[in-house]
Amino acid sequence: MKLHILPTAQDAAKAAADHIAVKVKGGSVRVLGLATGRTPIALYQRLVDHVAGGKLDLRMIESFNLDEYVGLRAEDPCSFHAYMQQHLFSHAPLKHSYLLEGDAEDPFAECDRYEREIRDAGGIDLQLLGIGQNGHIGFNEPESAHDSRTRPVTLNAMTRAANQPDFPGGRTVPEQALTMGIGTILEARVLVLLATGAAKAQALNAALQGAVSLECPASALQAHADLTVFADTEAASRLGPALAAGPQQGA
Ligand code: GLP
Repeated sequence: MKLHILPTAQDAAKAAADHIAVKVKGGSVRVLGLATGRTPIALYQRLVDHVAGGKLDLRMIESFNLDEYVGLRAEDPCSFHAYMQQHLFSHAPLKHSYLLEGDAEDPFAECDRYEREIRDAGGIDLQLLGIGQNGHIGFNEPESAHDSRTRPVTLNAMTRAANQPDFPGGRTVPEQALTMGIGTILEARVLVLLATGAAKAQALNAALQGAVSLECPASALQAHADLTVFADTEAASRLGPALAAGPQQGA
């Protein structure tokens, strides 16, 4: 595992974006796994800036998003489809973007379709991840099996409360979502985790230094052979000396 600790959230997002851009330009990433949430907004902004400046081209890239809320149509402004349009796709065209359809008639069939599409695309070269305050990745809540596949899940109260600001106007966060499984995520050849802000400090410590457990879904990432973590000093503030000490890197 490689750990990069940057002074601010903006710095961490930029460093993660630049890391991804280098891999795309180098040709090792053709299928990109994408994440949503407030954390990667600055990362997408940086990628868009690179594209606008002619330094990066995503038109040969296929993408797969981690998750989507059950019941939301792609056009719904609170959907992750809309988020991706707003923050990346409308500014930097990709070859093709796959997302789970939250309003699919048969959610289980939809999840099977997604797994097939990932396989048909040759697997995910690089998966971007955030982390929830309870250690979730994608929408894999605590107690998710570490070999779980893409499936419908029930969101817990902490996650729904954390995402409530994304549902203005008296709307409530859906109770269910479709998410890539932890097993699906671990099959990506390269993982990049971006964590910023003090609210993530405990989860990041549990993920990187705690016991591998069902309680902390992100602890499953410890088993991955190619994980790079970008954190700001706030998110890294609870990491023990072994990880946090090195200038920018720890093993
Ligand atoms: C969201 C997403 C996750 C994300 C996490 C943290 O709900 N399903 O993929 O990493 O929760 O989000 P944020 O970056 O807003 O803190």
